[in-house]
Amino acid sequence: MKITIIGTGYVGLVTGACFSEVGHNVICVDCDAQKIELLQGGGIPIYEPGLEELVARNVASGRLSFTASTAEGVEKSDVIFIAVPTPPLDDGAVDLSFIEFVAREIAACMTSYKVIVDKSTVPVKTGEKVEETIKRYCKADCEFDVVSNPEFLREGFAVDDLMNPDRVVIGSTSDRANEAMQKIYQPFNAPIVFTDINSAELIKHAANSFLAMKISYINAVAAICEASGANVEEVANGIGMDDRIGRRFLNASLGFGGSCFPKDLSAFIRISDDLGYDFGLLKEVQKINASQMDRFVKKITDTLWVLKGKTIGVLGLAFKQNTDDVRMSPAIDLCNRLIKEGAFLRVYDPKAMDKAKMVLPDGDVLFVDDMNEVSIGCDALVVATEWPEFKQLDLVKSKEVMTVPIIFDGRNLLDPALVEKLGFTYISIGR
Ligand code: UDX
Repeated sequence: MKITIIGTGYVGLVTGACFSEVGHNVICVDCDAQKIELLQGGGIPIYEPGLEELVARNVASGRLSFTASTAEGVEKSDVIFIAVPTPPLDDGAVDLSFIEFVAREIAACMTSYKVIVDKSTVPVKTGEKVEETIKRYCKADCEFDVVSNPEFLREGFAVDDLMNPDRVVIGSTSDRANEAMQKIYQPFNAPIVFTDINSAELIKHAANSFLAMKISYINAVAAICEASGANVEEVANGIGMDDRIGRRFLNASLGFGGSCFPKDLSAFIRISDDLGYDFGLLKEVQKINASQMDRFVKKITDTLWVLKGKTIGVLGLAFKQNTDDVRMSPAIDLCNRLIKEGAFLRVYDPKAMDKAKMVLPDGDVLFVDDMNEVSIGCDALVVATEWPEFKQLDLVKSKEVMTVPIIFDGRNLLDPALVEKLGFTYISIGR
């Protein structure tokens, strides 16, 4: 298939690379000419395991190319994917101006039948608006179909998630469009859910909100575990073995973050409001997530008492493992709160240091290049991101160089028995 993807962010770039990997001819378009130049020169604007090799291989095979021209992308392909950002607005609604702009651009360039696929996360009924817009702005009298095909990839596991999806959701009532979509996804050997466009759009918000709810649920259970002396990991294992519940996304933490869950929750609450339903359950999910960070900061202030003049080491700045993304990162939120209380921070992240430098205030933070050097002179060490390598931290050396051996583990990453045996005061979540 000849495919064009408009938008080379996490979703667009990984989708383009994976589609070309299975044999399709893919053109990736972005209005950011600098980004296109970087990609054309073999650079990758984001860190995502396996992506660089995948892009290089498919560019070399001639199946993957990059351009800043939407007209070229629209002309050369039969199926056009829209994968542009849909950022949150202050009132929880979603900014759909990039989608609307791209829809107009596509309409202006179309001269023959096209399937226009929305991959960005959008409120239900956006497809109808895209269809209306394209009809309104299309100069040539040509047919087209609009399809919703939400993406479920997780950052840090994006290539694997895209190559091996649990399911592919295709929202369209056009046989012609469904046939094209089936051809695109056939090589992935995944179950395909064919549905209407509104249901497909809702599936994405309902899925992400459900997963966020799972995390808030276990975080609330963690609070009960702390109050009762139970262990949240034992509880998560025990309930997770029930197939109807499942163990995944039941890891208690200092809260979920990233560019999807917080935004999608707000959007889903707002969409529901607009449709006349008060989704109180999801408001509670947000509330629990916010209080989880408050409870964690309180554990630190209760233990260290005054933070002014104290040095705290922070392991992890990304919003989760395997990524350099710090957008809505709980780790960054935590750093800012500790700085506000007067602490000086020594921080480390395997991939997110450069991006964190752009958002953390100068002067209050020292970026340390080696995770084993972070604890030097610290009154406490905090684990803020679930990077697996933090389990390899040299705890014996850390204890020697710390002013006081206290660890706050916001990801339940370390083994409590081991850490305590080494003489640390160890405080984690719900255990
Ligand atoms: C999420 C969805 O998983 C994905 O399907 C969708 O396409 C985009 O949004 P992503 O934001 O990349 O993906 O990360 P995810 O792995 O879902 O983690 C989100 C946040 O939840 C992170 O901050 C993570 O640390 C936290 N989390 C996750 C927990 O606190 N506990 C868990 O058990 C799982």
